[in-house]
Amino acid sequence: MSESNFDAAYWAARYATGQDPWDAGRITEPLRAYFAQLGPPDQRRILIPGAGRAYEAEYLHQAGWPNVFVADFAAEPLQALQQRVPGFPAAHLLQADFFQLTGSFDLLVEQTFFCALDPSLRPVYARKCAELLRPGGKLVGLLFDGPVGPGDGPPFGGTRAEYRQLFEPYFEFLHFEPAYNSIKPRQGRELFISLQRKAEV
Ligand SMILES: C[S@@+](CC[C@H](N)C(=O)[O-])C[C@H]1O[C@@H](n2cnc3c(N)ncnc32)[C@H](O)[C@@H]1O
Repeated sequence: MSESNFDAAYWAARYATGQDPWDAGRITEPLRAYFAQLGPPDQRRILIPGAGRAYEAEYLHQAGWPNVFVADFAAEPLQALQQRVPGFPAAHLLQADFFQLTGSFDLLVEQTFFCALDPSLRPVYARKCAELLRPGGKLVGLLFDGPVGPGDGPPFGGTRAEYRQLFEPYFEFLHFEPAYNSIKPRQGRELFISLQRKAEV
């Protein structure tokens, strides 16, 4: 379930009207650096939910990772990925509601998806991430470190205490620190997280 004012039509309209200030236009440095230290490509299944134009998927695909999946409500950003990277497997482009996804993944990548959701969905997001990950799998990426914007629409910020409470039932906190290599507009405003799914959730 994902009852929210920010539904598929809302996001499609944002893309259609060019209101997409979150789009960095390229892979961001924290995720590039994280992927670069993963080692040579292997069979790990990687899901990028709320992926937007998915520059991370482009990077991973071009680096040779075969099992990269992107999910987004909106068609436009997925088409944009397909146009930039014609070799990206069409079957790995999931135009779907994150909360309806099924499957088992080794790694989930978070970047400005959590903050785009209605905050009432945060507990469901945490549980859904745990459901989609195998035991020992990881949720890795970036969360805003504190309040963001005027508050009447996305992005929505949050606090470290809130994040700990949301994710602790399902995850061990491997890394949960201010990011040192954020893109300029987000410098000093992001946490880099690496959360490992517990064996039992
Ligand atoms: C703020 S954008 C971030 C996009 C991307 N992560 C980036 O960093 O450029 C949020 C994205 O989440 C998508 N989205 C929002 N709710 C969703 C849901 N329930 N299921 C799938 N995608 C969703 C929107 O369509 C949008 O592309």
